[in-house]
Amino acid sequence: MSNLPRSLLDLKSVPAPAIEKLFSLSRKAKKGELARAFADSSVSPIISLIFFEPSTRTQQSFTYAAHRAGLTPVTFEAGKTSSTVKGESFLDTCLNVTALGPVALVVRAGDEHDLEELRVRTGLPIINGGWGRRGHPTQALLDFFALSEHRPLKGTRICYLGDIDHSRVASSHFELAASLGMESAVCGPEELLQTVSPQVRRFGRLEEAIEWADVVMALRYQVERHESSDSERLQGYARQYGLNDRHLPMFGSEKYIMHPGPVNHGVELTSTVYFHRQSLILRQVQHGVWLRQALITALLSGDWP
Ligand code: CP
Repeated sequence: MSNLPRSLLDLKSVPAPAIEKLFSLSRKAKKGELARAFADSSVSPIISLIFFEPSTRTQQSFTYAAHRAGLTPVTFEAGKTSSTVKGESFLDTCLNVTALGPVALVVRAGDEHDLEELRVRTGLPIINGGWGRRGHPTQALLDFFALSEHRPLKGTRICYLGDIDHSRVASSHFELAASLGMESAVCGPEELLQTVSPQVRRFGRLEEAIEWADVVMALRYQVERHESSDSERLQGYARQYGLNDRHLPMFGSEKYIMHPGPVNHGVELTSTVYFHRQSLILRQVQHGVWLRQALITALLSGDWP
């Protein structure tokens, strides 16, 4: 057993009861009943948010969550105004930030970065805030927390649409859906489903997928990770796999539409779908703050598995 503090790098070894406990704490946060755990310190402890890839939701959400937990968030963004332009490495950057004295790190990193090494070298709790294509555990947690406010998760059929191969969100969703007793399927162009296990159900036609599913999770077509994403290709994708007005009657009042964001309007889904009453897209974002507040509180209180 390691003496290192608890971290959240993936969801593989997190047991279902721990998830249930986290959701229960998140519900307390939602009701405003979760104490600001770290607000009594004479100096407000700092949580460092280190972003080596762009972010809106995750960066903002952790900032709000940290304040709600009584911590002070300080954000580092790699890029033009940092010494990464002088060639300073990911590890050196994180070790220098660690030397400033934060109590934990939230890190968004690329596939080429090593969060496991970071955990060992810093001795700090590390929260994966999106790691290349490997995973985005807090996104999966907040998605299922938001969904759990609308329907029981066990037995839910969820179909992931589109660019599975480039999606860190899908990686974490597959891990979490299995441990929560949910059934997963995929639908999308074969060339974007190359990494999907043969055991996972596949749908060739979007209408069949919607018919089968309780929840359709459209994934962002990751333009920046494709060699070629011209507008003709995107339009072809939208015609076959994009959710639009024609599909909305199929959702009735029982099926839900999700998307982790950011959305390419008119590609993965149209704006009418985005704003439809069965769309949970903005509720996912809203529930992320409560989930992340609960996670930070549990992790730093030693109450995380
Ligand atoms: N869903 C998500 O991770 O969004 P950001 O990249 O904006 O953080």
